[in-house]
This record gives sequence, structure tokens and C-alpha cells, in this order.
Amino acid sequence: MNENIIILTGGSRGIGHATSKKFWEEGWRVITCSRTEVAPQCPWEKNKTDHFQIDLEDLDDLRKKVKDLQALLKGKPVKALINNAAISPKNEKNNRLNFDETDLNLWQKVFNVNFFSPIILSKSLIPNLQSANGVIINITSIASDMVHEFAGPAYATSKAALKSLTREMASDLSQYNIRVNAIAPGEIETSMITKNSQHLIKQIPMGRFGKPEEVASVIFSMCSESFSYVNGTEIQINGGQTV
Ligand SMILES: NC(=O)c1ccc[n+]([C@@H]2O[C@H](COP(=O)([O-])OP(=O)(O)OC[C@H]3O[C@@H](n4cnc5c(N)ncnc54)[C@H](OP(=O)(O)O)[C@@H]3O)[C@@H](O)[C@H]2O)c1
Repeated sequence: MNENIIILTGGSRGIGHATSKKFWEEGWRVITCSRTEVAPQCPWEKNKTDHFQIDLEDLDDLRKKVKDLQALLKGKPVKALINNAAISPKNEKNNRLNFDETDLNLWQKVFNVNFFSPIILSKSLIPNLQSANGVIINITSIASDMVHEFAGPAYATSKAALKSLTREMASDLSQYNIRVNAIAPGEIETSMITKNSQHLIKQIPMGRFGKPEEVASVIFSMCSESFSYVNGTEIQINGGQTV
């Protein structure tokens, strides 16, 4: 029997961890990466062999690890690629790093993780995704479209670029039967939310932050046949924060 394979960046915690757990519980083989070793709370079968320890800031290392990933896959079809890992650097008070405080080196690091890594991974996996009629989901952000009190301009522009890239990839990869969509979370309870963020609840009609599991279940649905004609779009998961 063919196994359903999902590859997900940033699986060690937050939305990535909840998503890995959801797919694993649904019987998928889950291949992850993060800077840390496989997290103790990740109970999946093969979690040691199916986890890549990598810092996505280092694109040369990513290109090497992509070869290791291909060796592990041995040409197998890949049903889903979730470009989830991201960084959102803050200032020393854990607040927004403004335009005038962001040096170009940091800007480059943010783009390496948040924008160029998804390009490298997605390109390398086209044949595997094609043979599964697979799906790519890019995790963007509410900050792609509006100034955010905590997400600085390097993060926001990297996510806006990823949102545009989603449209371009959807157009170009349809010929291979690969669908490409994005999800844009609002305020989700992970390490990206700081204790300074609590007052943002007032901006959310539902009156609470979202849970990583609520994002994971949308991602799972988007990888199912129910979404077979959804392509090139971004789904917002923010409790109505942008209404
Ligand atoms: N939480 C929110 O409110 C929110 C809002 C909008 C958008 N998002 C987006 O949702 C996605 C997940 O966010 P999250 O809140 O779950 O974040 P998180 O809790 O900070 O988790 C980020 C994940 O990415 C990995 N990662 C970070 N930098 C990495 C690097 N250089 N190389 C490899 N892996 C790296 C982390 O693992 P290691 O630290 O082990 O490397 C971790 O597994 C991101 O794309 C984020 O921009 C989140």
C-alpha cells in the first residue's frame, strides 16, 4: 500500500508540531526538520530517521540536506509539503524590530528561512509531488497584508513575498497537478506570541487567540480531496481579526 508522505519544516513546536501530530494520528508518514533534534514530544514512528536537523538560514547546508532527503525518499511520491518554519526577530525588549533597527544581515537571514528555503525545497520536490498529485502549503501571516505591532518589516515583507510566490507557484505548477495554497495565521498561541501580545485579544472578534491544533486541522483539510479545486489562494485563520 502506498503511504501518504508529508514533509514539513519547523516541526519541533508550535503550529508545525501540532500539524505533524495531526497527520501522524491520521496515518501519514511525517518527515520534519528544525534546528533542534527531534523534539521529545514528537512520538511518531521513525521520528529519528525522518527528522533533519538543519538551520534554514544556511542555504548551502539546505541544498546538501535536500540530497539526503532525496536519498531517504528514494523517488517516493510526496503528498504534501508544508513550508512552515519561520523566524520573526524582535528587539531586546521582545518588541517589534522597526525598519531603522533592522540591518541588512538580519534581513537576509529572515528571507533565507522564510522565503528562499521554501523555494529550494519546493523546487527539489516537484517530481515527488507530481507523482502524488500533491499539495504545497506556504504558511504566510496576517502581517503579509498589514503593519503588525510585533512583526517587523523583514518578517512582514518575507511573508508578503511568500504570499505572492504562492500565486506564481500555483500558476506554474498546475501543469504537474500540484496545487499550491497558503494559510495566513493571525494570533496563534505559540512561542511567536509574547506576553506583551495579550492586549491584541481586544482586536479579535472571537475574543481569544487561536490554538495550533486549529491551524493544523485546516492544513489537514487543505491536503484532502475536499480541496481538489482550490489553488493559488490564501486562507486566513485569525478569528475575524481582519474584518
Ligand atoms: N503563532 C502565530 O501567531 C503566527 C502568526 C502568523 C504566522 N505564523 C506563522 O506560522 C508558522 C509557524 O509559527 P509558530 O508560531 O508555530 O512558530 P514557532 O513556535 O516559533 O515555531 C517555529 C518552528 O520553526 C523552526 N525554525 C525556526 N527557525 C528555523 C531555522 N532557522 N531552521 C530550521 N527550523 C527553524 C522551529 O524549530 P527550532 O527552533 O527547533 O529550529 C520551530 O519548529 C510560521 O511560518 C509563522 O510565521 C504564526
